[in-house]
Amino acid sequence: MKVEFLKYQAQTTTMPLAMEVSHAEGSYIYDTNGKAYLDFVAGVSACTIGHGNSRVIEAIKKQLDKYLHVMVYGEYIQKPAVELTKLLASHLPKPLEKTYLTNSGTEAIEGALKLAKRATQRSEIIAANKAYHGNTMGSLSVMGFEERKQAFRPLLPDVRFIGFNNASHLKHITKKTACVILETLQGGAGFIEPKKGYLRKVRERCTEVGALLILDEIQPGIGRTGKLFGFEHYNCIPDILVTGKGLGGGMPIGAFTASGQLMDLLMDNPKLGHITTFGGHPLIAAAAHATLKEVLENDLMENALKKEQLIRNHLKHPLITEIRGKGLMLALIVQSSDIANSLILECQNKGLILFWLLFEPKAVRITPPLTISDEDIIKGCNMILDTLDETASKS
Ligand SMILES: Cc1ncc(COP(=O)(O)O)c(C=O)c1O
Repeated sequence: MKVEFLKYQAQTTTMPLAMEVSHAEGSYIYDTNGKAYLDFVAGVSACTIGHGNSRVIEAIKKQLDKYLHVMVYGEYIQKPAVELTKLLASHLPKPLEKTYLTNSGTEAIEGALKLAKRATQRSEIIAANKAYHGNTMGSLSVMGFEERKQAFRPLLPDVRFIGFNNASHLKHITKKTACVILETLQGGAGFIEPKKGYLRKVRERCTEVGALLILDEIQPGIGRTGKLFGFEHYNCIPDILVTGKGLGGGMPIGAFTASGQLMDLLMDNPKLGHITTFGGHPLIAAAAHATLKEVLENDLMENALKKEQLIRNHLKHPLITEIRGKGLMLALIVQSSDIANSLILECQNKGLILFWLLFEPKAVRITPPLTISDEDIIKGCNMILDTLDETASKS
């Protein structure tokens, strides 16, 4: 299978991990040799409630017997999409109320950027250094890492970058600015939290000059940081909220939410301002609705903060310089990128899944399912510590 994987399936890297998956359950993925891997990554923050959650599977099966795709997004009334958007609205502060469902995170970012331009009739977009918002052309344009986008230029014009957490850069947000787009906690940059008061200041500056604030919660959203949305920690409500990944419970999804008044601009002038065939797909909406209910009706968010503490208390080692992030969106920062690489690869051999972050080579991702048990957290942490001990003894 590996030969065919490499020959026929387009690759994103010259060295894929290439584990051949047999099945997955709870916090474990099993390969075709029957080996179990404890999952500290959750499909890169996507499998919020673990693998094969019965509530999600049930919801998918129930919908499967009724109908699949029947019509392009937004024309017919399809219960799963209505229920999902209504449930989201009931857990969001005003004025966030109306949600547009897409097929992926990056597509939701595209929709949010378009909405901001349409609403303000301005073209300038302000994003942050080391930001990651996805890989389509608009999202790539607001990625704050030139090395990975140079080859694809020209991209969107009128994009400016500011330093994340640098309040003195906020003066660059002006009456020419259509929107400021930020990740609530920067992911690819190394799980950087906003400093106290920073997002509030961004919010105030945007309001002052009539620019819209877009917060990308594709990674921190849906309970991962201990609240349903990361922005709830920082006293800052965006004009447009973008979600994805963990909302789908293992199915592909993206969503952007705004006030009804704002979102309705996409209907007219030009008409069909943002359209998609499969966005809001009934199977995916049913899975997302079940996922959201599971997160809301259990103590997963509260426990994410307790589990963060368990990890922080346990993972103490001279080769670890820092643990960044919040809840179960954590990054181990180790002394060098070589140590990060060998930790990830050696842990994979031992049966623990870890992964890299996009722009911080010394970081190792720890984003397990929110449903992971304390025993499995300790087991995984011990595997990390043992591996770091081995690395230390070799040097
Ligand atoms: C913060 C953030 N924004 C946007 C995206 C893009 O989402 P997708 O890969 O679903 O297009 C990601 C994915 O990693 C992300 O972490």
